[in-house]
Amino acid sequence: MSRLAHQSRRIAGVQQPVIPLVSRWVASTPGTISFGQGVVAYPPPDEAVDAAKRFGSDLLDHRYGLVEGLQPLIDALEDKLARENGIRVRPDSRVVVTAGSNMGFINATLAILEPGDEVILPVPYYFNHEMAVVMFGAKAVTVPTTAEHQLDVDAIRRAFTPRTRAVVTCSPNNPTGAVYPEADLRAVNALCRERGAFHIHDEAYENFTYGAARHFSPGSIDGAGAHTISLHSFSKGYGMASWRVGYMTIPERLWDAVNKVQDTNLVCPPAISQRAALAAVRIGAGYARPHLTGLNRVREIIGRTLLAADVPCSAPEPLGAFYYFVRIHANLDPVDLVERLIREHRVAVMPGVAFGATDGCFVRLSYGAIDERAIAEGVSRLAHGLRAIAGAVAR
Ligand SMILES: Cc1ncc(COP(=O)(O)O)c(C=O)c1O
Repeated sequence: MSRLAHQSRRIAGVQQPVIPLVSRWVASTPGTISFGQGVVAYPPPDEAVDAAKRFGSDLLDHRYGLVEGLQPLIDALEDKLARENGIRVRPDSRVVVTAGSNMGFINATLAILEPGDEVILPVPYYFNHEMAVVMFGAKAVTVPTTAEHQLDVDAIRRAFTPRTRAVVTCSPNNPTGAVYPEADLRAVNALCRERGAFHIHDEAYENFTYGAARHFSPGSIDGAGAHTISLHSFSKGYGMASWRVGYMTIPERLWDAVNKVQDTNLVCPPAISQRAALAAVRIGAGYARPHLTGLNRVREIIGRTLLAADVPCSAPEPLGAFYYFVRIHANLDPVDLVERLIREHRVAVMPGVAFGATDGCFVRLSYGAIDERAIAEGVSRLAHGLRAIAGAVAR
């Protein structure tokens, strides 16, 4: 083989991103209702868009900025973290603005991992977490979660080895919608502290909880700042996915390493997106709140209709994010199932294998961007498709 055709062995070992594959099937099947990508239907705050429109009148707007982000945004984020998350940033930690929270994960893990190090990931995981770990030549050590998609803290404890560098948790969870109780997150955080590992906690869906579920930030625990990395996003709560802006709280002593990574990778977060983010964060969590009523209605419709007795599938009730992670009661290849649901029934979901769920056939439904008028039709297509495809081979 020509040397030019050779790709890095580390990268060759990374799973193929699943969203582009499903998106191609959707694009070639007009009229598909998509429960695919995890985005919200609503736009960013007007104030954020207006801030972007005002951007550019000052020559300095067009120069490189600080690696860690604009100081007024960092100040506003520190206030937000104290007010909404109970995270007191200084002196043990600091805020770094990133081009989306995926980049936060990448820049933080690149700063701490040696090849061969281990990172514990409860399954199902958010695929980009696993992909990044593998990309860096580290080992993703997967541990099961409970049938309710909750953390199994004992399984996490047992998975520790001398090479464990970090445990990654995500709550509210993608892909399951599970919200982890405070006690479990405290237990994982304490375990990491005891064993000298980092607790990386992804809070991209912090604004999306329903019913009695409450969001908890492990970074708020006394003494957590020195070993906790908290990842936050503007993509979901503020509807700003394309703006590529997020932030993380990192232990202060990691700053030197993260500074090197982010300086090389990004130089500085895009200034126009940071200005928009500053306007958005001043509005706060209240921006997403009015949208939760509609999302909750959609969540309940899916629960009532899809999980009805005559559809061969089941899922625990998710109380967060905007996902259902559904077990299909049939021995099917989940990627084939997804392709057939799109091509034969014009409804798209994500295959559970992308999230590491190999113990059965699972699919993820995202209902964040489905409008209430399309939901009945979408769920009815899915129920019909699952009865037709999975019913034929149901166990
Ligand atoms: C758990 C989780 N973290 C991070 C992201 C990406 O966030 P961002 O757009 O800020 O990079 C997503 C997007 O789906 C997600 O589900």
